[in-house]
Amino acid sequence: MDTPTKDIEAVKKRVHVETWGCQMNVADSENMLALLAKENYELVHEPENADLVLLNTCHIREKARHKVVSRLGRLKQMKDIRPDMRIAVAGCVVQAEGKKLAQEVPYVDVWLGPGKIDELPNLLKQNESTAHQQLSIGFHKEREHAAIAEVSRSQIPTISGKNEVSRYVNITQGCDNFCTFCVVPFTRGREISRLPQDIMTEVQTLLDDGAEEVTLLGQNVNSYGNDFLKNGKIVASAEGAFVDLLKSVAALPRLKRLRFTTSNPHDFTRPLADLFASEPKMGRYMHLPVQSGDDVILERMRRKVTVAEYYERIAWLREAHSDMAISTDLIVGFPGETEEQFQGTLDLVEKVRFSFVFAFKYSSRKGTAAARFPDHIEDAVATERLARLNVLQNQITLAQNDAEIGKDREVLFLYESRKDAGHYYGRTEHFRLVKVASNRDIVGKMLPVKIESANKTALIGRLL
Ligand code: SAH
Ligand code: SF4
Ligand code: F3S
Repeated sequence: MDTPTKDIEAVKKRVHVETWGCQMNVADSENMLALLAKENYELVHEPENADLVLLNTCHIREKARHKVVSRLGRLKQMKDIRPDMRIAVAGCVVQAEGKKLAQEVPYVDVWLGPGKIDELPNLLKQNESTAHQQLSIGFHKEREHAAIAEVSRSQIPTISGKNEVSRYVNITQGCDNFCTFCVVPFTRGREISRLPQDIMTEVQTLLDDGAEEVTLLGQNVNSYGNDFLKNGKIVASAEGAFVDLLKSVAALPRLKRLRFTTSNPHDFTRPLADLFASEPKMGRYMHLPVQSGDDVILERMRRKVTVAEYYERIAWLREAHSDMAISTDLIVGFPGETEEQFQGTLDLVEKVRFSFVFAFKYSSRKGTAAARFPDHIEDAVATERLARLNVLQNQITLAQNDAEIGKDREVLFLYESRKDAGHYYGRTEHFRLVKVASNRDIVGKMLPVKIESANKTALIGRLL
């Protein structure tokens, strides 16, 4: 006779999720999976046997829509064979183009934007009972019911099974900056912070669930809490609400490492830089996107900082630790960028000596201010500049990685290699990826490692 547990297992549904884009989307996927776990779903790694395939999409650069439509075409073939398989599409593409797409791609069962991820279980139920495609975009009107507030109330461990040692926690949703190239304020809405107590509770839940490292997420974490300060919901110290929050989280005894992303240099403060000196859990690594090394371009991007101000922030960080590793985002081929202005970017890259760089070719996005600028530059020119920039940065990254050879580093191990059994990956406090061999499972452990060799992407070490 079947036991009751077996009966429950027998009705489990399978979900397969594919996530594109930034860490926000990774966090959103985790949160949606947590909501689905409540509905008795389990995660599967292939779409073939899934009852539900969930795509979480990104709209940041061009071809985003094309990528989604072509992936959906492949999934349609599976759905033709298994008509019960359901498809849900979430993420920034849906917020931007969901209405049109819903008409074009009728076989998708549920569409939901990033402001409505909390509605996924309900939308699936409505789709089931009505057999009609469901679409939910936009943002909840009252901040108390913002999607991130709603999912945080769910407070349940992930079923992602992925990287459980290192977890993301949203501290803000949306963005108010309107950099002229960027779609995020349109796809994610205005900036809304989460209350410190909600964040603390979620971090503690994750720590209880086995997390060792937490990354606080927002499009501009430095402006965390500005909305609450205005309406009197919180009071901050002179160092600011974000620094206060970091201090509270860092004080949680079980936490080993605390990271955060992303920081807009405009709102990056001295007290935040100083915190790297006083708070060892924050490590010695910071991602500070600059986008360009030319003041005119920066102004046209509406980044609200000059190159000199950016250098000043780098100096603050390097005063905290002389060996601070700093990474950045760069855009090449922004409208009107001259060869000389691009040289400014190369110059900055050489001067700062970033540990690594995410460099992108400018991509015109409908609805943004820069899309209406008259002086878009030729794709071939941008491509060539991007290649030159990558050559330069690769040399710098490799030189820095080579300089690690022979050093002893504390490494927090995050996962076992999929391809190479018995090998584990972790990160140093400078956020450098390290691979070691080990005959015991070391995931979640912080261990000393001797670095023995290096390449562009990783350091190879030996456990001490
Ligand atoms: N909030 C973050 C950036 C999030 S988007 C910040 O302000 O730093 C991540 C990166 O994508 C950006 O830093 C930028 O380098 C790149 N990006 C955004 N829009 C782009 C566009 N239209 N074309 C090319 N790259 C873009
Ligand atoms: Fe986009 Fe600028 Fe907001 Fe970053 S700060 S998400 S680049 S608008
Ligand atoms: Fe992409 Fe949306 Fe993130 S557009 S980069 S998934 S905020």
